[in-house]
Amino acid sequence: MIAVRPRRLRRSQVMRELVAEHRIGIEHLVQPLFVVERDEDAGPIESMPGISRLTLDATVAEARELFALGIKSVLLFGIPAYKDAVASSSYDLNGIVQRAIRAVKRELPEMLVMADLCGCEYTDHGHCGILDSEGEVDNDATLELLCRIALTYADAGADVVAPSDMMDGRVKAIRSSLDGHGRTSVAIMAYSAKYASAFYGPFRDAAGSLPRQGDRRGYQMDAPNSREALREIALDIAQGADIVMVKPGLPYLDVVRAARDRFDVPIAVYNVSGEYAMLQAAIANGWLDGDRAIDEILTSFVRAGADIVITYFAKTYARRHG
Ligand code: PBG
Repeated sequence: MIAVRPRRLRRSQVMRELVAEHRIGIEHLVQPLFVVERDEDAGPIESMPGISRLTLDATVAEARELFALGIKSVLLFGIPAYKDAVASSSYDLNGIVQRAIRAVKRELPEMLVMADLCGCEYTDHGHCGILDSEGEVDNDATLELLCRIALTYADAGADVVAPSDMMDGRVKAIRSSLDGHGRTSVAIMAYSAKYASAFYGPFRDAAGSLPRQGDRRGYQMDAPNSREALREIALDIAQGADIVMVKPGLPYLDVVRAARDRFDVPIAVYNVSGEYAMLQAAIANGWLDGDRAIDEILTSFVRAGADIVITYFAKTYARRHG
């Protein structure tokens, strides 16, 4: 009997690399950036060590640094000076995200600029869309809002718009609206399977977007459901999504895998703020070897089948491996 000895393939670094089934390419990583309208809102985010809210100038400088490191895609989030019930600063042609898109594209035309499309950073009540008289998010009124925002992002030069609101029918509405205005080349990356998650906590500190009342469970997905995630993804693809996303990442790797097995479109995974925070907290305490833990987690996304990984670790990863 010949003994099968899998350990033969693990003996050296070169051998391990030779037989590695997956690898992270920095060209697949996306760095999220928070851009503030008022300079006084800039500065470090306490619950996300290493990540800051950036002024417009700092955003351009950061984009330049990222590009030089090989991170050529960014996802922009705006922190506006003014909020109201209908998120009016979200579709201002001169709004903070619109200005940031223009500034980054002017400076770095090859940088791929994605912009998050949602009302929650712009509404005074903190929900992702327009509320009806009962205080619930009104799906169809919100679709109009999303289309308006999308057009201003396209106008500013965004390559990708990324609706993260979880309204029904938004991809179709946004696609028709973009196409109707000749913006056929702007891609849609849909937050298709976006769960109502505790792991968005630090993001909501960063963006000041915690709902004043209630929570997002009426529109974001419920943790126990994975078949429903596949239904959501199928709907978004049918409506014209170019890229679909699963979010958060670590607690939903099974959904990433299931989506990969079922669909052919590019799949993105969002390694969210709370996943970043919990890892950074353990690293800061000396409880985990940071570099190894980060690499292992980013590898898990690729192994699960994600093509695109949106992560606050993109820059540090590129610094070490670029
Ligand atoms: C906007 C949006 C959120 C995130 C991305 N887009 C917050 C939310 O839904 O509450 C979370 C990102 C993160 O936690 O890193 N709707």
